[in-house]
Amino acid sequence: RRGTALRELGIITDGAVLCVGGKIVSVGTTKDALRDPWVKAQRAKKGKGKLTEIDCTGKVVLPGFVDSHTHPAFIQPRLIDFEKRAAGASYEEIATAGGGIRSSVAAVRDAKRSDLTSVIYAAFEQMAAQGTTTIEAKSGYGLSHESEMKSLEAIRDAGKLWPGTVVPTFLGAHVVPREFAEMGKDGSRAYVDIVCNQMLPEVSRRKLAAFVDVFCDRGAFTASETARIFAAAAANRLAVRAHLGQLSETRLAELLKFRPASFDHMDYVNDADLPRLAKSDTVASLVPGANYFLGLDRYPPARKLIEAGVAVALATDYNPGSSPTPSMSFVLSLACTHMKMLPAEAIAAATINGAHALRLADRKGSIEPGKDADLAIFDVKDYREIAYWFGVNLCSETVIGGVESQNQSPTLRH
Ligand code: NIG
Ligand code: FE
Repeated sequence: RRGTALRELGIITDGAVLCVGGKIVSVGTTKDALRDPWVKAQRAKKGKGKLTEIDCTGKVVLPGFVDSHTHPAFIQPRLIDFEKRAAGASYEEIATAGGGIRSSVAAVRDAKRSDLTSVIYAAFEQMAAQGTTTIEAKSGYGLSHESEMKSLEAIRDAGKLWPGTVVPTFLGAHVVPREFAEMGKDGSRAYVDIVCNQMLPEVSRRKLAAFVDVFCDRGAFTASETARIFAAAAANRLAVRAHLGQLSETRLAELLKFRPASFDHMDYVNDADLPRLAKSDTVASLVPGANYFLGLDRYPPARKLIEAGVAVALATDYNPGSSPTPSMSFVLSLACTHMKMLPAEAIAAATINGAHALRLADRKGSIEPGKDADLAIFDVKDYREIAYWFGVNLCSETVIGGVESQNQSPTLRH
């Protein structure tokens, strides 16, 4: 969805959704649904085989959120970094002083795969309780061949336990690990070699990931290293995406040639690149939870991107260093208060455009016949309330693949 189409939600008042076999089969008004002969016959049945009816009177039903950017494969929160930032240090200063991404690595390398699976699964459950039904999940805190594969295996294992849809992403190029960084420029070349020549082929051969991601920014990987990794991904028949413009600007032309599914963060972007980006299928996935948590004044330029015709998505960026939140509705709130997105735009960015960012828009992101029966039910009267209330979970129920699960969270009554 681009431009003004991003704010068109196609709301149906007194709507009804009929799902069969895990798929949405029809969408319309409750009145029409109740007149349907097949529905009538099903409702007349007793016991087994009878339709399950979920009464959503006075509630808002959305397509389940598609969280298109998360890093759940970590063991511990980064409380020292958090406290240092409270005392005035910046994200980059903390990373240079030995904190940051590298400080999450040892615990992942030491962890049993099953322990990693448990923490990832717990994160998926937290996300689902807040209305998320599709999750992109990255590796990237192992940074060695063995521990990156272990992270992807744990994501796969957690995805098998969880009823929602998980899209695994290989982020071996998150940062140059300490043992290579100590070797300077040669060290980063040697690490990129391992990512391209050893890790990527195994990821591809074992189908451990759908995407390859690179953190392309100051202090991580350069644009030319990113292009090299993208080329290796293409050679291994893997699609690509990148973290871009979180800390500094990177020009887009060279990387767009690889047709990435998404560029994420995009706090810094050159205006001259916007027309090119708008013409491409690459989604700009904005993750304002990171700006909030790092205490930044600057937020991604959502208005400028939307008005230029760029497809904009919203995601949590769930991770221990810059955005420890599983809540898409909090991200919607930030998008409205700090990026001047309309609540309707935020919802479309968190659903259908998130699905496009994962190349799953044929199955996910909207309530349309033929798509997966993934719904989020909110105990609010107006969709704008989902972004309005913050610090509270108003998702009362989710339906994933046609199966409902209730949340016990309290409700607001206003
Ligand atoms: O998206 N920018 C790179 N990756 C994460 C941060 C990871 C971390 O600090 O652990 C991000 O913000
Ligand atoms: Fe990230």
